[in-house]
Formats: sequence, structure tokens, C-alpha cells
Amino acid sequence: MTASNTILTDGFGRKHNYLRISLLEKCNLRCTYCMPADGIALSPKASLMTADEIFAIAETFVKNGVDKIRLTGGEPLLRKDFPEIVSKLSELGISLSMTTNGILVDRHIDVLKQFKVKKINLSLDTLVASKFTSITLRNKFEKVIDNLHLLLNHDFQVKVNVVLMKGFNDNEIVDFVKLTQFLPISVRFIEFMPFAGNEWDRSKMVSQQEILSLVGTQFSSEEILKLEDEKNFTSRNYKIKGFQGDFGIISSITNPFCDSCNRIRLTADGKIKNCLFSNSETDLLTAFRNGESINNLISESIQNKKKVRAGMVTMDEMDDPKKHFDNRSMIAIGG
Ligand code: 5AD
Ligand code: SF4
Repeated sequence: MTASNTILTDGFGRKHNYLRISLLEKCNLRCTYCMPADGIALSPKASLMTADEIFAIAETFVKNGVDKIRLTGGEPLLRKDFPEIVSKLSELGISLSMTTNGILVDRHIDVLKQFKVKKINLSLDTLVASKFTSITLRNKFEKVIDNLHLLLNHDFQVKVNVVLMKGFNDNEIVDFVKLTQFLPISVRFIEFMPFAGNEWDRSKMVSQQEILSLVGTQFSSEEILKLEDEKNFTSRNYKIKGFQGDFGIISSITNPFCDSCNRIRLTADGKIKNCLFSNSETDLLTAFRNGESINNLISESIQNKKKVRAGMVTMDEMDDPKKHFDNRSMIAIGG
């Protein structure tokens, strides 16, 4: 370890080499689990990081050991200066990836290819057009499906994020797994998580165990292969023998993966969050604009990181809606 990357190592020895940057808080969908029904108060434009500020702050992280950056939002492709942002970040020589709802992918495919944003996570919670409209409140199913195929035709590595909600899409788990027969995608089933304004309750969540037993109703245990966990995994992955793609489960609630967490988040207004569930934030942008060094602030935030889910260790703590009121909504955190 070099002296310079110690500021990204926390009290539990976890090295944070993966930075997720939210580019804005706006979205062209209204997914109910992400965006509160009455919207959110958007930060004024002047308090969002500019393309130059994103680059400069990201560069500080890269100098300290970050080698992987994911662009998130809101919907990152809604940023008018998206091409400028990726072009700058690509100079840092790190792996660049993006999480998107897919709607604007066709408009940006050349930029994504040019700057090697090869790993794309696409949010798609249902394979039924009418259900897509009911969860996102927008009629864009066909566009997203077309863009999923476009990405695959251009050899992008695509992961499809499926947030599971009981009574909504748990009956599509097997259909999503079957989609991996002929498409080289990784479907990731995500346990529904509580955030401000998303009316989470435990009974709406579909757990890792339930997902696996549903898959088991269609495929035999000899057909379901467990893949090796990646180094800083969030999803536990499986593959159906002979299928082109695979599937995984992100069980932040019932089986968290905090021990190997290497992630730190930068919000669109320049604050770092050391955990998705943490309501304490460290403002880097103000210090940066004042010409101050941000290294100490980064170090402080990393040192304050709790061992598990922002200190919510038990299911009872996690279940308590009051614990999540002070956190941001997902739309303002960045997925
Ligand atoms: N629970 C789980 N995942 C969520 N996402 C957004 N809100 C939630 C939530 N409440 C994920 C979606 C999307 C990414 C941006 O964040 O999968 O793909
Ligand atoms: Fe937009 Fe993604 Fe949130 Fe849906 S989950 S509202 S697509 S940011």
C-alpha cells in the first residue's frame, strides 16, 4: 500500500477503490421505489458539480487509490454535458461504468463506445409493458428493450437490475432467468431497500431465500450452478447450465455484504456518503470551491464508516422506518 491510498482505508481495513458519482438528481422515469410520489426538492443548479469539478474531485480520489468509477443519477444520460464528463473522466485511466434506465442510450451509444464505458447496468423491473408503465409512470418499455438489444449488439457488458417487490414482479423471477438463455446478460435481483419516501415495508420485500426457492421450482439443483463470488461482490451469482447469461441476487437486507465493501458515493451536489444507508454526509464541493484541500474530509468520512449498514446491524433496526427518514431518497443518492 502506498502512503497516499491510506486515506481510503477505513478502520476495518476496507480499501475504497470504487467511486460512484451521481451526475444529477433528475430522472425521466418515476419509479415508485426510488422517487417519492410528491417528487423531491431539486438542488439548485449552482449547487451541482460542474463537469470540471466532477473531474477534479474524481482525480483526487484516483490519486488516492480509486480505480473504478460508476456514473449514476437520477438518470446520468440526462446531463447535457454527459459527453464532456465522460471524455474528461476517461483521461484518468480507470474503469468507467454507468447505471442507466436505458431510455437515452441510443442517443449516446457513440460516446459510450468512444470513451469505453463498457459496463452498463440497466434498470428493468418487469418484462410486461403495462407493468413497466405502472411502476415507472412512463410508457417507455419498448424503448428500453430496444436499447438493451442495441447495447448487446455493440458488445457492451450489460447487467439488468430488477428490484423485486412482492405482488408486483416476484411472479416474473423465472421469466427473467429464462431471458438469460439466449441473451448474454447478468440479471440481478435486488432486495427492495428502504429510503426516504418510498413506503418500504418488510412485507413488500422478496428475500434471497425466496428468490432461490422460486428459481428452484423451474430448474433442478443440477441445472443451477453457483458461480464464484467476485472480490468485492454485491451480488451472489448463479447460472443455469447451458444458458448464455447468468443471474445474481443482491441481498442488502437479509444477507448484507458490508465486510467486503469497497464503495464510496459522491452525490451530484458534491457530498460524500460512506454508506448507502448513512444519513451523514461530508460536503466536499464547498471546500473545493473555497480552494481548500479535500483530502482530510475524505479521510474523515472513510474513518467514520460503520462496520455494517451505517450502524443498523439488526433486522429490527433496519425495519424501523424512522431510521430512514433522514436519509435521502434513492433518486438523490445515486443508485
Ligand atoms: N431498493 C433497491 N434498489 C433500488 N434502486 C433504486 N431504488 C431502490 C430501492 N428502493 C436501484 C435500482 C436502479 C438503481 C439506480 O438503484 O435497481 O437500477
Ligand atoms: Fe430513475 Fe433509476 Fe430512480 Fe427509476 S430507479 S426513478 S430510472 S433513477
